Amino acid sequence: MKQYEVKKPEALQVIDWDIEFHNIMLNDSERMKAFKKAIFEVVKEGDVVLDLGVGTGILAQWALEAGAAKVYGVDFNKTILDYAQQNPNLKKFGDNYIPIFGNSMNVELPEKVDVIISETIGNFADNENCVEYLKDARKRFLKQDGIMIPSQLKQFLVPVCSPEVEKNIESAHLALPYFETVIPKRDYVAQPQLVNTFSFIESDQVDYTKNLSFECLTSKKITGFKGWYRAQLSPLVILDSEITFEDSSWNNFYFSKQVELGEGETTLDIKITRNNNMYSFEQVTK
Ligand SMILES: C[S@@+](CC[C@H](N)C(=O)[O-])C[C@H]1O[C@@H](n2cnc3c(N)ncnc32)[C@H](O)[C@@H]1O
Repeated sequence: MKQYEVKKPEALQVIDWDIEFHNIMLNDSERMKAFKKAIFEVVKEGDVVLDLGVGTGILAQWALEAGAAKVYGVDFNKTILDYAQQNPNLKKFGDNYIPIFGNSMNVELPEKVDVIISETIGNFADNENCVEYLKDARKRFLKQDGIMIPSQLKQFLVPVCSPEVEKNIESAHLALPYFETVIPKRDYVAQPQLVNTFSFIESDQVDYTKNLSFECLTSKKITGFKGWYRAQLSPLVILDSEITFEDSSWNNFYFSKQVELGEGETTLDIKITRNNNMYSFEQVTK
């Protein structure tokens, strides 16, 4: 995606992702390199693995190639689950690959697993609902000493001055809760802030309200907020979506909100709320 181009966020239409979008993900070289490295680092000979959101089956395939005895591949998109089953690189593992149709929240597994792999990461970390899914999966499916890929997910936010994005939203007549775009660092109006760190444990909040305080450059007008994620896939592998590349499947999260600072003021206090997978931003005046 080109800088400042805008589109409807993929995160708002996960259930409808077709093979075309899966191919974009399969061609995202950073994503593929990172997950492959993490899987070969973590999965050990004989492990039982869950691939939550198996899609075309590439991560399940790598887990089996790394020595997994068995991989359960769960997906709520039947078309893509069936497509994975035809993948010859998975087929060759025979019954060691077990496809399961359904939302992970509603399925049962016949045993606990050593590793849960999941690429259900949204471009703003939790906007594909992975925190709820992975908390549930860890609790119900992971062995006591089991490992998650990713093990941790961080969520970042920064106010930006991006009039080009606003122009593109306006000319495309897009009315959406938030947008997908690409915003360079030169548009940042302040230092980015960490919103949440998720480890998929009981204390992780799926919905939340967070207060953030930014020290801003007064010379710049704030048009909205850019968001992204940083994922610790394994002890050695981190994947980050702040900077995107030509072949990236994740673009930046953009929440359009014009914010005015008072004369001479530099501090911007905001309250971000997530409720039922929707976000709202409010300026807090002190
Ligand atoms: C980003 S794609 C990743 C596909 C594949 N694992 C890969 O890395 O190429 C996420 C997949 O997870 C599925 N998915 C998301 N949340 C799910 C859930 N809670 N239960 C089952 N499938 C889910 C989607 O249908 C989609 O196929």
